[in-house]
Amino acid sequence: MSYQAIYDCSIQDPDGFWGEAAESIHWYKKWDRVLNRMNPPFYKWFDGAKTNTCYNALDRHIESGRADQAALIYDSPVTNAKKTYTYRELRDRVAKLAGALGALGVEKGDRVLIYMPMVPEAVMAMLACARIGAIHSVVFGGFAANELATRIDDAKPKAIVSASCGIEVQRVIAYKPLLDEAISLSTHKPTACLILQRPQLQAEMHDGRDVDFEEACENAQPADCVPVAATDPLYILYTSGTTGIPKGIVRDNGGHMVALQWSMKYIYNVQPGEVFWAASDVGWVVGHSYIVYGPLLNGSTTVVFEGKPVGTPDPGAFWRVIADHNVSVLFTAPTAIRAIKREDPNASYLEKYDLSHFRTLFLAGERCDPDTLIWSMDKLKVPVIDHWWQTETGWPISANCLGIEQFEIRPGSATKPVPGYDVQVLDISGNQKEVNDIGNVVVKLPMPPGCLPTLWNNDARFVNSYMTMYDGYYLTGDAGYIDEEGYLWIMSRIDDIINVAGHRLSTGAMEEVLASHPDVAECAVFGVKDDLKGEVPMGMVVLKAGVMRPAEVIVPELVKLVREKIGPVAAFKLATVVKRLPKTRSGKILRGTIKKIADGEEYKVPATIDDPAILEEITENLTQMGFAHPHE
Ligand code: COA
Ligand code: AMP
Repeated sequence: MSYQAIYDCSIQDPDGFWGEAAESIHWYKKWDRVLNRMNPPFYKWFDGAKTNTCYNALDRHIESGRADQAALIYDSPVTNAKKTYTYRELRDRVAKLAGALGALGVEKGDRVLIYMPMVPEAVMAMLACARIGAIHSVVFGGFAANELATRIDDAKPKAIVSASCGIEVQRVIAYKPLLDEAISLSTHKPTACLILQRPQLQAEMHDGRDVDFEEACENAQPADCVPVAATDPLYILYTSGTTGIPKGIVRDNGGHMVALQWSMKYIYNVQPGEVFWAASDVGWVVGHSYIVYGPLLNGSTTVVFEGKPVGTPDPGAFWRVIADHNVSVLFTAPTAIRAIKREDPNASYLEKYDLSHFRTLFLAGERCDPDTLIWSMDKLKVPVIDHWWQTETGWPISANCLGIEQFEIRPGSATKPVPGYDVQVLDISGNQKEVNDIGNVVVKLPMPPGCLPTLWNNDARFVNSYMTMYDGYYLTGDAGYIDEEGYLWIMSRIDDIINVAGHRLSTGAMEEVLASHPDVAECAVFGVKDDLKGEVPMGMVVLKAGVMRPAEVIVPELVKLVREKIGPVAAFKLATVVKRLPKTRSGKILRGTIKKIADGEEYKVPATIDDPAILEEITENLTQMGFAHPHE
């Protein structure tokens, strides 16, 4: 069937379409309704059904003859380790870990927070939670104690699974002190912490709370899969919103499985038994969907890579992993490719490896600049597919669906809406934009299965953030347009979220941190263009009257403060002190104008500005920092 026929069918008859897709999943009890539409915008997929995600990801494949097939390959250039787990081995480890969690009192519906580096035990912890119906919440290792504490207080986990350390290229990063600090900062306290002691660093254990991961697993009885409702939460994943309080994106069990398994076949075109590698981190949605659940639900082999595109040890690392493990399809962020291209512009490292079995590179996580896409296609000689999605949706909204029909690749476009997503571009009043005209990108409700049913404990924020601007539509927060051939072009965010090295960050959260500095009267944080990371944050602060300390002293303090409060992942290294910030007459800071000046783009002096002379001052300041010149 053609893409158009499949797409039309998914929009005209979502119940029929997804009901059929759901036949490939195991259900203890089938649904009463494919889609319960009784309480919009709170839609419920596979309402009434009972299932278990871990059973579908592991046990199901063992029972159908894949017990001895590789399920997970761990490749860690930073520790010189490689290890393969078959489906049976992974299931057995997960069942023991699930038993260990149960012994610590974790039951169906309880939350478990996971703060881990890229080791197989992180994946095992997620699957172990799924096995017993506990709800996991993974926090990316690059976040600081304060961010971890915010998430502990929101999710209220009964237990936390963590490790003694992570390894950033050559630096050993102690995780346990960060965890201890987070628990001391949080109001909610977990009952137990399971700590994986890594040989690189021994963590100090707290009596009565901390339990050794390996010992607990050894002593545990393997736990069986617990049937849960399809609509029960599988996980909460916190992502940046427009304030310092992150949004707890909820994912259900049933719809999520149906969507991900469908996507493996029809978007990524990956067969059971093939090796699929998402070079991301389990702390991000890409890691959840395409390191853990997607490939395993599909009976494929996944790769857990503890390394970087460059420096571990060289820019050939990705090609080495593809060759060593027979990877068919790689998924990563454009920034990773830019990092490789910067160190090895002629891709000379590629020549060292046999990549004849490698079929496709998928890119997402940030807007893909055409140069990066063209360079990768030229060097790898395979299709390179830019596709667009968000933590909220959990799987692609727009892509070139290679398992259906491959369209011509147009660098800069995420091709066409994926079946299930009725993507439209609206103006501020809710009218459809003309072809090629940029506007707010929305998805007409209902969204397909797999997308967020709500925010954790916060239905009101779910409605306000996504469903209020246009009645009956989900607001993606991205701006873009659809061209005359139906290609979707995602151009920018409409809010203050920025994408730094494929990591989603809130400038609002950074402003809250800067504003907490005793010398700061007011501030603005915005993203400036960066050749490697796409964007990096920059802070502009006005000091309180009477502050005599020089900028050279205050700026490093601001940088340190953001690193301490949000974490190294914020990559906040640029800040400047100015006398005043440009504002509208009503007092709104003109962040968009400052950003344009910093990026060396043309800008119009806003008609509402209270004092245009400030712009000259700011331009001079930014020029001294090496910005505000035309960008190549
Ligand atoms: N634990 C602790 N610290 C971490 C961390 C983790 N899991 N991940 C990143 N950090 C630290 C880094 O070491 C760095 O610290 P530094 O300021 O002391 O140098 C800081 O956070 C910023 O990290 P990052 O923005 O990733 O920059 P980088 O220079 O270390 O690496 C890239 C740049 C492009 C190589 C890297 O970002 C990358 O591989 N990106 C791929 C994108 C990706 O995985 N995206 C996920 C969505 S698909
Ligand atoms: P995250 O929730 O971290 O996955 O970030 C989602 C955001 O990243 C989207 O809303 C977009 O702003 C941006 N993004 C992700 N993929 C793409 C893409 N292929 N093209 C343009 N922007 C993208």
